[in-house]
Amino acid sequence: MINLYELKKQVELCEKCLQIKNKTKVFGKGNEHAEIMIIGEAPGCEEVKNREPFVGKAGVKLKSYLKEVGFDIEKDIYFCNVLKCRTTDKNKNKKDRRPQKDEIKNCRTFLEQQIEIINPKFIILCGVTAMKFFKIAEPLKNIHGKEITKNGRKIYPVYHPVARVKDKTKIEDLKSIMKSIK
Ligand code: URA
Repeated sequence: MINLYELKKQVELCEKCLQIKNKTKVFGKGNEHAEIMIIGEAPGCEEVKNREPFVGKAGVKLKSYLKEVGFDIEKDIYFCNVLKCRTTDKNKNKKDRRPQKDEIKNCRTFLEQQIEIINPKFIILCGVTAMKFFKIAEPLKNIHGKEITKNGRKIYPVYHPVARVKDKTKIEDLKSIMKSIK
């Protein structure tokens, strides 16, 4: 099996998505032996600047909550995204947009291999893009916070961290999951 270092090198060279202009890659961060993997949608502006997932406003909040519950961010968790590049609107405002189907498809093999290498027991899926990756078709509002078992792993869809910044009640699903894992 390929190791994480070699996989990261492959990701750095990827040029599959023609519609993505800034192809700065944000591969993943954390302990490669962690039992918990948190998968988001795609890096945003801050993540691209720092080349690290979950370092923008929403990510900082997420991590501060995980610390509060008693998790060691460096040791217990591996963070990554479905897409390794930032996806933005074509027009001038360059707002983040949801990844498209073909972009998720282009990036699929990278996350599949990351999961295989890290081999986490628990996977937290932040938002609908991560759910799509796992072919979970149910609406997030019906399924968030619930446990699903796939290939021997426990998978939990939760609201995307940006939704949580806007609506504080949306942190509750993550809270109860992380307490149950602890
Ligand atoms: N930061 C990330 O890296 N990914 C997300 O999905 C949200 C914030």
